[in-house]
Amino acid sequence: MFDEVIVSNWALPFLKPSFYRVMKTAQPYSMVSRKRMQNLWRLMSRIERRGLAGDFVEMGVARGGTGLLLATFASRSRLPREVCLYDAFEELPQPTAYLA
Ligand SMILES: C[S@@+](CC[C@H](N)C(=O)[O-])C[C@H]1O[C@@H](n2cnc3c(N)ncnc32)[C@H](O)[C@@H]1O
Repeated sequence: MFDEVIVSNWALPFLKPSFYRVMKTAQPYSMVSRKRMQNLWRLMSRIERRGLAGDFVEMGVARGGTGLLLATFASRSRLPREVCLYDAFEELPQPTAYLA
């Protein structure tokens, strides 16, 4: 019912208890705010409601916070979804005009 709206943080346990539990687990491993996590969950809920097939790919997983949201959502999806998590995990090389 509240899937499409971004609610205040204090209301999350009451209005979005399922999301809230996952977010609480993910938060210690994430740089992403609660509002942005809520938005990510909202977008995944939207594709689920519309029955859109497809996998989740995150470019820049860092310590895995939002990756955990993606993986949890995919595991509950009605459709099979692969979750691919990538990161450089190191300093990125300076850009050059040439391919290595
Ligand atoms: C803001 S952090 C990601 C935050 C993460 N989603 C979370 O839940 O906390 C951005 C990450 O993207 C990675 N990154 C940035 N540019 C990249 C690139 N070109 N290739 C791979 N990883 C990259 C960085 O190493 C960093 O870990």
